[in-house]
Amino acid sequence: MLFRVVAPLGVQGYGQDDAWLDVQRRKCYLSKVPYAVYLVDDDPLVTESLGTALRIETTYDVVTFLSGTAALGAMPDRPPDVLITDFKMPGLDGLALLRAVRQAYPDAVLMLLTGYADKESAIRAINEVGIFQYVEKPWDLQDLLLKLRAGLERRELTASLTAANLDLARRNEELARSLSELARAHEELRKTHERLLLNERLAVVGRVASGIAHEIGNQLTLVGYAQAIREKVGARDPQVAEYADIITTAQKRLAAMVTEIKDFTRGNGDVPPLLSSEPTDVALVIEEALSILRYDDEVKACKTKVLIESRPLALLDRAKLTQVLINLLRNAAQASKPGGEILVSVGEDAESRTVQILVEDEGTGMPEDVLSRLGEPFFSTKGERGTGLGLGISRRIVEGHDGVLSFASQVGQGTRVTITLPSLDAALERKGSARAP
Ligand SMILES: Nc1ncnc2c1ncn2[C@@H]1O[C@H](COP(=O)(O)OP(=O)(O)O)[C@@H](O)[C@H]1O
Ligand SMILES: [Mg+2]
Repeated sequence: MLFRVVAPLGVQGYGQDDAWLDVQRRKCYLSKVPYAVYLVDDDPLVTESLGTALRIETTYDVVTFLSGTAALGAMPDRPPDVLITDFKMPGLDGLALLRAVRQAYPDAVLMLLTGYADKESAIRAINEVGIFQYVEKPWDLQDLLLKLRAGLERRELTASLTAANLDLARRNEELARSLSELARAHEELRKTHERLLLNERLAVVGRVASGIAHEIGNQLTLVGYAQAIREKVGARDPQVAEYADIITTAQKRLAAMVTEIKDFTRGNGDVPPLLSSEPTDVALVIEEALSILRYDDEVKACKTKVLIESRPLALLDRAKLTQVLINLLRNAAQASKPGGEILVSVGEDAESRTVQILVEDEGTGMPEDVLSRLGEPFFSTKGERGTGLGLGISRRIVEGHDGVLSFASQVGQGTRVTITLPSLDAALERKGSARAP
């Protein structure tokens, strides 16, 4: 006995409505609703006799109609599984009916009932509408039943094939999804591994560097001797005074490097803890940095201008931010020719609730490959004059303030470094909400 299979035939695309498909597929196996067979012929003798024969021979629900229009009208309530229709009918003829049903119920089995004279037209219909079978009048009931069963079987096969295909497509999609998830996880792992390796290397380098820096730092107290010599002998012997100055300058530079290395190794690659952050006048930090750099030969050689239009407050670790500015100003001076101009300014942006400190120079500028490596530990283009630690430390300090350190640079034109920090109210708000449970 054949039972109807409700399968998601004619569904275009998949994946977009998986839940619906599941329901359909389950129905497919559970549904035991008998097939709806529509028999349409304008001759009541045909519908009577064939209708009765089919009811006796099958378990199908056979419904008969005398016109195509009447049959179409009944279909929405009970979609047809099979349509057997006469060819020549007044009003809607068989071909038009077949076309309409094919359109509305693409998986219905279509059969045409024709007189021998209409064979040509029947063949045309088969080609045009794609009907499955045609049966000649007068019909041989066994032959008709055979064709009917074959049609339904074919339909069921197609349906389960389609269902299997959909299932396969869905599994494929799932597989592709898991694969890409796997690839993502793998990439994540690789990056973490790389970071770990780098941290490990940095930690080793840091320990060594810190030991060396400590030693050098101890020796640097000897700078006092050079100054003493200058004071004692310098007035009498200008040559000695010059040597003493050279020693002093070199030692100051060394001292600055030692400070950078110590700072770096203390932080060990992480954001350094802020010692103390309190509402601070941002402009004051600039003034402090410049006052410390008063004796720095390279900075001294440049024309440094300070533009303070307002004096915004920010939540700062004053000593650390001063250190950032010293780093930036020294970089600017080192990139500039003697007499080059350096502009330091303070700005505020109410909308983004930020405060900016800008350090601009008209020095060498940086090509793309230098710009992309800024902040990388030990990256320096200054040979033995640089440690390549200044910007890494500076970035960490700025980020420790929830800020951003950014660079804009043109080779041969100069560089603009921007420190963007949350304004005082924004920082206090963030701190408050971070503390709240
Ligand atoms: N204002 C600037 N103009 C041109 N180049 C700069 C500037 N600031 C930084 N750089 C480049 O970035 C590199 C790294 O800077 P930094 O981390 O301070 O290390 P260092 O100054 O010891 O080299 C410098 O060697 C230089 O090439
Ligand atoms: Mg530097």
